[in-house]
Amino acid sequence: MVALIILGGIPSLFLNRLGSRVLHTFAVRRTPDDRRRGYLYQVLTRKEEAHEVRAFDSSEHLRHEHDRLFDERIADLRGTVRRRMLYGTINGVIAAAVTVGSVVLLFVFVRIGRISLSDAAVAIAAVVLLAGRIRGLIGSTGSLYEGALFLEDFTDFVAVERYTSKPNAASESLEPTARRGFERIDLQGVGFTYPSRSEPSLIDINLSLEHGEVIALVGENGSGKTTLTKLLAGLYRPSEGVIYWDGEDTAEIELAHLREQVAVIFQDYARYFLSAHENIAISRMSDMSDREGVRRAAQRAGADPYLTELPQGYDSLLGPSFAGGSDLSTGQWQRIALARAYFRDSPVLILDEPTAALDPRGEYEIFQQVRRLAQGHTVVLVSHRFSSVRAADRILVLDGGRIVEEGDHEALIARNGLYAELFQLQAEGYRAANS
Ligand SMILES: Nc1ncnc2c1ncn2[C@@H]1O[C@H](COP(=O)(O)OP(=O)(O)OP(=O)(O)O)[C@@H](O)[C@H]1O
Ligand SMILES: [Mg+2]
Repeated sequence: MVALIILGGIPSLFLNRLGSRVLHTFAVRRTPDDRRRGYLYQVLTRKEEAHEVRAFDSSEHLRHEHDRLFDERIADLRGTVRRRMLYGTINGVIAAAVTVGSVVLLFVFVRIGRISLSDAAVAIAAVVLLAGRIRGLIGSTGSLYEGALFLEDFTDFVAVERYTSKPNAASESLEPTARRGFERIDLQGVGFTYPSRSEPSLIDINLSLEHGEVIALVGENGSGKTTLTKLLAGLYRPSEGVIYWDGEDTAEIELAHLREQVAVIFQDYARYFLSAHENIAISRMSDMSDREGVRRAAQRAGADPYLTELPQGYDSLLGPSFAGGSDLSTGQWQRIALARAYFRDSPVLILDEPTAALDPRGEYEIFQQVRRLAQGHTVVLVSHRFSSVRAADRILVLDGGRIVEEGDHEALIARNGLYAELFQLQAEGYRAANS
């Protein structure tokens, strides 16, 4: 009888596993659409998109798509729950059949006189108890199995993280994040292809940056400027070629250590809905309490005047998301991002379109400073404004992921290539306005 009860549990084990698989495949299957639905929800509700959604009257279309995905999810969920219920019901029927079968067997034993009635009563109690325990055991195994399926996804994810970080284990021997500075950075035959692309975004980049130099990157949209700054900032590793810091292959250096050496303001810089002070100090957390340093950085970026005027000065909450938060203009946010880069005070300063939103005076002042900044720093500057890249020691012109021209402003104009063409196009706009 014990054998009968245990054997009766085996189908449950399989049915439980099936139920878990159904739930897991449902979660995996729904993830892309759920993320899309979550994104549409954000577009429909966030401030960042609200003005466009209203101005273009696109909410109906977005809402319709959102609701369609929601309906699809509910339908899919209904099917999944039905299947799980079916497995549960079959499970219940089998369990009941085993119990009934055992009782019938006991009844037969009593009838043929193999056991006494009192023995049978004890056996019935034992059967019920044992069947309950076995069901419990199978249920726990099922939950464990279900958890393991999702855990597997987690371990796969962690494995990806390890791949982007340092590939071998020698990193522990490196000294902790000291600001060691550098004399030169060399890029040799560097290429980079985004995982989602088949065509490379950077091809055969050869370049050296000396300490104290100002390098400007120019080129048309999509020519690879931002990608190059991200490689220099240690956000990506090159797909081909080598980047050396003072002769040391950066593939041998932990990315976090590399990033220590770099302060960067991205084209799509972040706006933190934290205090103004934190917005700047966040680039060097170890000196979070250095209020004087934060103020100096803000002054250099031209952010100090309007920050001091805020209700609580530098302690004012920025951004509109929380009660009491003050929103700023786009240019004012950009100046804060600049201040953040200045406050970090790293050997390499990378500025990707740092003045795109600044007024002409602001832009002029920033570029006047860049030269001063270069004392003790290496500055990599990306800009579409040719008036501002003129001052760089060297200008690199990118086209289709390659460096096609290199030199100072005069040399590049004399060359009469892509740089000269783009420069003339921009200059014409001003001349036309003059005449
Ligand atoms: N995250 C990404 N995934 C896939 N491809 C990308 C990604 N970022 C950029 N690219 C592609 O890589 C190429 C270079 O892009 P990059 O952002 O470096 O250009 P850019 O010179 O900075 O342009 P812009 O002047 O518009 O800022 C482009 O073809 C672009 O479409
Ligand atoms: Mg860019």
